Amino acid sequence: MQAVARYAVIGNPVAHSKSPEIHAQFAAQFGHLMQYERLLAPLDGFAPAVRQFMLEGGLGANVTVPFKLEAYKMATTLTERARLAGAVNTLSFNASDVAGNAAAKNAGNIAGDNTDGVGLVRDLVNNAGVSLRGKRILLLGAGGAARGVLLPLFSEQPASLVIANRTASRAVELVAAFSAVPAAQGRLTAASFDALAGHFDVVINATSASLDAEVPPIPTALLGRGTLAYDMMYGPHDTPFLELARRQGAEVRDGLGMLVEQAAESFQIWRGVRPDTAQVYAALRLQISGQGSA
Ligand code: ATR
Repeated sequence: MQAVARYAVIGNPVAHSKSPEIHAQFAAQFGHLMQYERLLAPLDGFAPAVRQFMLEGGLGANVTVPFKLEAYKMATTLTERARLAGAVNTLSFNASDVAGNAAAKNAGNIAGDNTDGVGLVRDLVNNAGVSLRGKRILLLGAGGAARGVLLPLFSEQPASLVIANRTASRAVELVAAFSAVPAAQGRLTAASFDALAGHFDVVINATSASLDAEVPPIPTALLGRGTLAYDMMYGPHDTPFLELARRQGAEVRDGLGMLVEQAAESFQIWRGVRPDTAQVYAALRLQISGQGSA
């Protein structure tokens, strides 16, 4: 009899996570016998929660707020993109994962990866149909969310990428952290919000401002026709950032597609096959907009 393959999303809080629904739909596409649960770890108890799950036979886990840095530290091997992100959202525990993940061949090994950046890029390129090659990108924010997407964005060979942050020194530090990355060389600069000028093809909000119903105070002229405004957050309605961008004539897109695409990448790491994301995205979108009108 085929054993149930166990996975989880570990966070605190975690009740809101859509990952179990997303992965259940992915598993159904391939007829995989898979159980994906929510694991609430105590704020000071991430590592024991992971170890317990491994002991119970868990094969992998997604990691969400506030544990991505702890997952990074706990991982015994890291992919290049996870190392540069300084954060891990996908853990793989052992050799029985059908992906045959080379990094996970040794028992007790904890392989760490970060699929957030590639999730964002796939959503932009494949779903929104926006090629990033030769484009001018503005990334707002210099925290974990911004850092996590930098390397995958550079893999698309944009003409330039400007990081702007409320605390400008953090943007400067992030640029310095990527100074040795070949793909970023000559293309990556830091700026303060009020010094921003010129045209950007894509403006990505990687700040947590939307959580406080705020908009990063950038010159509004940056968000006009010919620009795609992307918010990593999502919800039943436009975030305040997307609302402003839409009013200004920009195209807008929220982070729901990124959520589904990062999950698809995790699924592929664990299960060795790439799920179709379009139906899953459409179902989630419907569910979320329903919540807005309730
Ligand atoms: P995350 O892991 O989500 O990136 P973080 O590391 O706490 O979380 O970073 C939050 C980011 O959102 C930072 O870039 C923060 O700017 P500061 O470095 O100046 O704190 C940014 N941020 C949060 N609230 C904001 C607001 N209201 N306006 C602009 N930027 C904001």
